[in-house]
Amino acid sequence: MKISEAKFAGSSTDVAGRPKRRLPEFAFIGRSNVGKSSLINMLCGMRKLAMTSSSPGKTRLVNHFLINQKWYIVDLPGYGYAKISKEGQRRLADIINGYLLGSEDLALLFVLIDSRHDLMRIDMDFIDRLGEIGIPFAIVFTKGDKLGPVALQRQVERDREALSEHWEELPPCFCTSSVTGMGREEILDYIAAVLDGLKDS
Ligand code: GTP
Ligand code: MG
Repeated sequence: MKISEAKFAGSSTDVAGRPKRRLPEFAFIGRSNVGKSSLINMLCGMRKLAMTSSSPGKTRLVNHFLINQKWYIVDLPGYGYAKISKEGQRRLADIINGYLLGSEDLALLFVLIDSRHDLMRIDMDFIDRLGEIGIPFAIVFTKGDKLGPVALQRQVERDREALSEHWEELPPCFCTSSVTGMGREEILDYIAAVLDGLKDS
């Protein structure tokens, strides 16, 4: 699939504040600083569509981007960012939960994992919860340019093994780099396939 148009469609903190036009949504989540906003920019081929930062906790709202006038990419705040007040953490958790529990148009959630590290407890807990609330998801290993191909494959295998201890069937997994564009076609083709499936249902 080609993204021929991507534009910012609004920021919100709750379901009531999201864009009025209802279309299928593909949302991106993961620990703070894992590379959600960078990946969105890479997929859209635009450097500054979603705001990125080298310090964690940059995205604090639910940001909708309208793609090809047909579907939304949704940039979510990161989870597990400890360096803000308890009240701030609660507010971010409320925003994330509000989105996950309230968004009827969520077609698929991409859960981003930093490919340099083992799956963390907080990621596993988050993924387990997705199963409980029945949200379809895929895994994206980010920052793939920071490892060589062999190390990247080895790390992905370790994480897939950890996931298989919790899940009989593994979700789709993608390796990406916002620097080299690795994984772009694969993710966009997968989104296209999910959108096609929605048409038939
Ligand atoms: P929050 O909004 O704070 O939760 O972070 P985020 O997950 O949106 O991360 P963001 O895209 O802002 O990226 C965080 C940092 O990682 C930035 O300094 C990016 O330049 C860097 N980064 C993101 N993706 C990649 C990647 O694929 N490769 C490399 N080398 N750096 C990356
Ligand atoms: Mg962000």
